[in-house]
Amino acid sequence: MPKILVEKLEFTYPSGLKALKGIDLKIENGESVAVIGENGSGKTTLVKHFNGLLKPSSGQVWIGKKNTKNYTTAEISKTVGYVFQNPENQLFKETVREELIFGPENIRFSEDKIKDIVEKIAHLTDIYDILDSNQRELNFFQKQWVAIASTLTMDSKILILDEPNTSQDFLGVEKLIKLINNLLMKNKTVITITHDLDFALKISNRFIVISDGKILLDRSPRNIFAKKQELIKANLIPPPIPRLGISLGFKYPPLNIDDFINMYK
Ligand SMILES: Nc1ncnc2c1ncn2[C@@H]1O[C@H](COP(=O)(O)OP(=O)(O)OP(=O)(O)O)[C@@H](O)[C@H]1O
Ligand SMILES: [Mg+2]
Repeated sequence: MPKILVEKLEFTYPSGLKALKGIDLKIENGESVAVIGENGSGKTTLVKHFNGLLKPSSGQVWIGKKNTKNYTTAEISKTVGYVFQNPENQLFKETVREELIFGPENIRFSEDKIKDIVEKIAHLTDIYDILDSNQRELNFFQKQWVAIASTLTMDSKILILDEPNTSQDFLGVEKLIKLINNLLMKNKTVITITHDLDFALKISNRFIVISDGKILLDRSPRNIFAKKQELIKANLIPPPIPRLGISLGFKYPPLNIDDFINMYK
């Protein structure tokens, strides 16, 4: 049974704007999926359905055996952690430590387990030194890491990262790649929204391209980069190496330098 199953999902905001226009999707346990697409195409709206922050206007979303329409976000968040696109909308406690403790306390982890997990996650995300800082003193970059850490302390099976790399510098992005691969080794499912296809390539081999509230493509990156018309429609430009391969007439777009060299021979 897939971990996430989306059937004929449509969603209309109260304003009347129809943001999702019929989405069918399966995501299995342990997969790493990159969700890409233009601004306003519906990426955030889609993933907010995975943890019950939004409920379908029509259609169904299943997390394992649970239909999200019958569960609260608090109940679903034991299984699905969601790191907001903007950490300002997520963080609400005074200190970093309080923020990290809030989730696991809420789902009634034992005191020992909470202590243990906060310690572990603070190290993993490199925020140990700011654990007792007031969140108002943090910069956006640090807040993004606190938002990630405070979701990880819930130890959910599925993690959604909504544009986690936007304000990260080179080292921050490297750290993110390491973190995601670490989670995948623990057989977690990771869903990452991003505009950065280079970054997406390093964390996922399944790209889902959203365009105008629908899934335009759901394939491996190699297959995606070969789809010229669809890429234009979704306003996506492949990274330089695949682009060079395509312009040289390679049969398939190369994904990295090694790939390029092999295909060039
Ligand atoms: N709270 C809301 N009320 C009304 N319309 C909304 C709301 N949130 C988003 N929308 C609209 O729904 C559509 C999809 O928005 P969504 O945020 O899901 O896109 P996105 O793909 O995540 O974009 P971005 O890359 O900019 O984050 C857009 O037209 C957006 O303006
Ligand atoms: Mg978004």
